[in-house]
Amino acid sequence: MPKNLISIQDLTKDEILHILDVAREFEANREQDFLAGKVVACLFFEPSTRTRLSFESAVNRLGARVIGFPDNRNTSQTKGETLEDTIRIVSNYVDMIVMRHPVAGAAATAASVASVPVVNAGDGANQHPTQTLLDLYAIRKTQGRLEGLDIDMVGDLKYGRAVHSLVEALRYFSPRFTFTSPEELDMPKKYLDMLDRDGVPYTRTGRIEDGLDSCDILYMTRVQQERFPDKEEYDKVKDVYRLTASMLGGVRPNMKIMHPLPRVNEIATDVDSTPYAYYFQQAGGGMYVRMAIIACLLGYR
Ligand code: CP
Repeated sequence: MPKNLISIQDLTKDEILHILDVAREFEANREQDFLAGKVVACLFFEPSTRTRLSFESAVNRLGARVIGFPDNRNTSQTKGETLEDTIRIVSNYVDMIVMRHPVAGAAATAASVASVPVVNAGDGANQHPTQTLLDLYAIRKTQGRLEGLDIDMVGDLKYGRAVHSLVEALRYFSPRFTFTSPEELDMPKKYLDMLDRDGVPYTRTGRIEDGLDSCDILYMTRVQQERFPDKEEYDKVKDVYRLTASMLGGVRPNMKIMHPLPRVNEIATDVDSTPYAYYFQQAGGGMYVRMAIIACLLGYR
């Protein structure tokens, strides 16, 4: 295992599969004491519900303790302390740092000065590798495999860090992608170039109807208001897609709808009671996956 988890590319395919297997083991038995006596810092410089609370719960269930903050308003960063100095100091107190930050690249910066492992819990529009691992866990659980699936990613593919990490991870598993977005929110060129280099097939469309009936996983995303430099630009695209139960008549029987959450308007609540909705279970699995990430990076098998 690598020391840090900053990008999903820090993990080999075998390491990804190992973490998913350990997560399954922890789901079967969630009371563990592997980390008794350890302390983990959860430093969140940007809002979070799922990631922070599932990490904190994961730390507790592994027998360790948590310190940290849900925002940085009460830290010495308000007095001008740099991120690097904050991380150097926290490194003295803990065995691992889990960090979310609004700036792309902040997790790599933290890892470059930390004396303990750093886990990226989301850095700007860049990467969200622990979300990707829980997404893979959900995909494998619902489809029985990761190989050879049709994956339709819908919405904000430009700013959505979850889809960036997920595309990078899924290319190990021979996927076929549909990227559904308005032009303004296209998947960044660097990810398309990566897929071209690897020979991974993908199509691009602006119409949600185009990929709906021919995918195994419909990965919906929120338009990331907080990443837009201009509110007017956000208003133009904020409601571009809205999935409703009435649109699901022709989908594959095994199709599951996933979403990193939070949702805003892009999935109507009448979808929640269909057999295709899986986003709440997906988030639930995140705790076991984060237990596995912490444990594996700290030496568990
Ligand atoms: N999916 C996700 O990262 O959710 P939170 O922002 O609530 O952590």
